[in-house]
Amino acid sequence: MNRIPCLIACAALATAAAQAQKFEGLALTPPMGWNTWNTFAGDCNESLVKETADAMAANGMRDAGYVYVVVDDCWAKKERDADGQLVADPAKFPSGMRALGDYLHSKGFKFGMYGCAGKTTCGGYPGGRGHEFQDARQYAAWGVDYFKYDWCDHGTANGPETYRIMSDAIRAAGRPVVFSLCEWGQNQPWLWAEPVGHLWRTTGDIGPGYVASGKNKWEHGWKTLLDMNVGLEKYAGPGHWNDPDMLEVGAKGLTLAESRGHFSLWCMLAAPLIAGNDVRHMTPEVRAILTNKDVIAVDQDKLGHQGFRYRVDKDKEIWAKELSDKNWAVCVLNTGDASAKLTLDMHELSFLTEQYYDVTDLWTGKPSGTALEPHTATVDSHDVMLLRLKPGS
Ligand code: GLA
Repeated sequence: MNRIPCLIACAALATAAAQAQKFEGLALTPPMGWNTWNTFAGDCNESLVKETADAMAANGMRDAGYVYVVVDDCWAKKERDADGQLVADPAKFPSGMRALGDYLHSKGFKFGMYGCAGKTTCGGYPGGRGHEFQDARQYAAWGVDYFKYDWCDHGTANGPETYRIMSDAIRAAGRPVVFSLCEWGQNQPWLWAEPVGHLWRTTGDIGPGYVASGKNKWEHGWKTLLDMNVGLEKYAGPGHWNDPDMLEVGAKGLTLAESRGHFSLWCMLAAPLIAGNDVRHMTPEVRAILTNKDVIAVDQDKLGHQGFRYRVDKDKEIWAKELSDKNWAVCVLNTGDASAKLTLDMHELSFLTEQYYDVTDLWTGKPSGTALEPHTATVDSHDVMLLRLKPGS
């Protein structure tokens, strides 16, 4: 072969080999589920996970789409076994992970687990570094469908390379798995992770917003992470999502209005919806937020566009998300400290292409006129007015 074409062909092959090949088609809309971490941290265990799944089957969450039940950090024994295998802590998971996966599958859920790309996990348990292919086979044998891979204790490891190795390992193990990259946005995963995984964290950890230091909870909760996702909308789409971290809906420290605002904005972002509250004991109001099908439909819209911040005013932000069939979701957020009367004049929304729209208020579920007249609502501090616009006549 002529040397030049060979060089080009060989380089192309080498690049293809270095490109990870995730399982396609697994996350055409943002994944939804529940994770042990936000409320229970290191106190995850078998009965908690089973009781949670039972509650989600009974309270409508599973049927609303929350199917991934994810065991986060601190599930393992502190040491691998003699063969280098990860072992579930028998005190926390006495029946073992295969049995837990079987239980979840029998109830119509999918099974999620957590590992870490470093030598140890953030909680100090064995990390995956150097064990990627062995661990991926183990997870496949346990029936794992979703895998979150953290970034603690990574030393000098290269981010993209590290996550590609794990993606290849998952692929080689042969079981389709949604791969959730959790490197906190440190290596701008939105620029390289589309072929590697299905979702990637864009920020550090979410908190309920109240901090021990007594700082303003609004400035240290979900609003901070929301702001950090401005501009990333062009990187998300079916099969590959920006992940602004799991939900704090229903967490202590958030008012109901803040939970509703948080949930609405995560849906506007086409964010993965991974609940983290104790769903066995939540109030009907919190459950109503998490299972509102019209709001979830904004998140899960098949067009897969992440919403964008259209406008910032004093004490008010306007967010917009294009939906399929020329529909739009428009969300007005009260960023002020007090309840306020907010007005949205659709004539200001330059992205609208149709002349007429029928408007529905997604939190009241009621028709709210047409786009021809301004829409006004009294909105609590940190709450939203969330409207769906459908082309009308
Ligand atoms: C990191 C992650 C969290 C959680 C903890 C567990 O902080 O970002 O989501 O998984 O580790 O230790």
